[in-house]
Amino acid sequence: MYSIAVSACTQCFWRPLVDRCNIAAKRLKELFTGLVLGVYEKENGSDATPFTQAAASFDRSVSGKLGETLSISGPPLKKGKCRIFYGLHQDFPSVAVVGLGGKGAGLCGSENWESGRENVRAAVAAGCRQLQELEVAHLEVDPCGDGQSAAEGATLSLFEYDELKSKRKTPPVPRLHGSGDAEAWQKGVLYGEGQNLARRLMEAPANHVTPTVFADTIEQKLAAFSDRVTVHKRPQSWMESEQMGAFLSVSKGSEEPPVFLEVHYTGNPNSSQAPLVLVGKGITFDSGGISLKPASGMDAMRADMGGAATVCSAVITAAALGLPINIVGLAPLCENMPGGKANKPGDVVRAKNGKTIQVDNTDAEGRLILADALCYAHSFKPRALVNAATLTGAMDVALGSAATGVFTNSDWLWDELHKASVATGDRVWRMPLFQHYTKQVTESALADLNNVGKYSRSGGACTAAAFLKEFVTAEHWAHLDIAGVMSNKDEVPYLRKGMSGRPTRTLVELAAALAAGL
Ligand code: BES
Ligand code: MG
Ligand code: ZN
Repeated sequence: MYSIAVSACTQCFWRPLVDRCNIAAKRLKELFTGLVLGVYEKENGSDATPFTQAAASFDRSVSGKLGETLSISGPPLKKGKCRIFYGLHQDFPSVAVVGLGGKGAGLCGSENWESGRENVRAAVAAGCRQLQELEVAHLEVDPCGDGQSAAEGATLSLFEYDELKSKRKTPPVPRLHGSGDAEAWQKGVLYGEGQNLARRLMEAPANHVTPTVFADTIEQKLAAFSDRVTVHKRPQSWMESEQMGAFLSVSKGSEEPPVFLEVHYTGNPNSSQAPLVLVGKGITFDSGGISLKPASGMDAMRADMGGAATVCSAVITAAALGLPINIVGLAPLCENMPGGKANKPGDVVRAKNGKTIQVDNTDAEGRLILADALCYAHSFKPRALVNAATLTGAMDVALGSAATGVFTNSDWLWDELHKASVATGDRVWRMPLFQHYTKQVTESALADLNNVGKYSRSGGACTAAAFLKEFVTAEHWAHLDIAGVMSNKDEVPYLRKGMSGRPTRTLVELAAALAAGL
């Protein structure tokens, strides 16, 4: 594992290389390679450093110097922590040793995730970030017993949205190299890149990612798979002919044209199996409309297309992985703005299925655009229908960023989503779809439904879900309220601060499980 394409001058030791060799400084920089190696926590009574396989073999190649230096460098390395050692190996001038916690850490019932995998993601992330600070051009990463998680940790940890800054804060992202199982590594890279795409779309300002730009970006990304993918960017006239009165009532408050994005991935062309249909809320900016939001923090509403971003990124990732499954991805895309034609509190609109909706609060716009998208989704007779939406502030109040709230009419789909989220570490938590909440949205003075619950603040995430349920007849449907997990401060250690792109990997994992018939 320790021979990589950087050994141009391996006879001489690294630092004095500048003086001894004739390589221009710039070229030399291109050769800087960092190495991330894992170490477990010591078990009781054992003296030997519990290195991973790769770390142990590296230690042997430097005659035990890594173990020696590590033990004199301080107390045993804690889980998720990192220490850098210089000059141990001529090919790797800097080596980051990262703490993996206890060996054999597995499923944790109370935490609802695979601790071992989360530990690998967090530890590798810490190592990668510190080595990036040293401006290494290449990074070789120990699989730490789980190449996919190591690749996810590495890929996710290095992402930063700084394309619009003339002076970038962090050094360039090093090229990643996985050692060990190439397939697992590659899978992890694709999972991580999928989530990073969602992060980029969410973080980007709303004047850069308009509905049109969003749809064009997804179309471009899917062009590589044109043999298995079709993309439709439906214009306003199509929405009108589809009688999507609820969606149109939101989009008409803005000058920006709406787009209904529809992508089909045919990964299993010979199957007669119904598709998995994914629907994502695509509000590229949510000002609240006439029920205007307060100014403070409103900028975060550029990420109100997180549902569309995670869903579309999941379809792209499924295509990149070549998953043998058919998926339809749908994203109603528009802005929620207080224009002259915007919804006014008390207005009544008609959704695609004929139901009338009294719009008492124009800031509850996500459920309006999803109502029509969910109606349309049924035309594909989905085997499972999953929608993702940054739908309610109440979801954030309830669970914060710990888990996505899942409202579902199907125990089978719940199990699948739960299993998938345990594997990815995204976590989901089941929420109720009681009639109790349905009553609060079906008692409207002027229409069949009201877009806000009767007791406005109480159970806000649940009344929103009950509202969506009025547009669902599918046997297996799940609504994922991702408002709480939309952004990351420092809760997820392998993601930098900013929009999180969660739960893209869980949607991919779900598709993979359904494809494998698990
Ligand atoms: N996009 C927001 C929900 C949101 C809030 C997402 C914070 C992420 C972080 C949604 O459109 C909204 O404004 N919902 C209202 C609903 C209310 C008016 C019933 C809310 O949660 O306040
Ligand atoms: Mg809103
Ligand atoms: Zn919104």
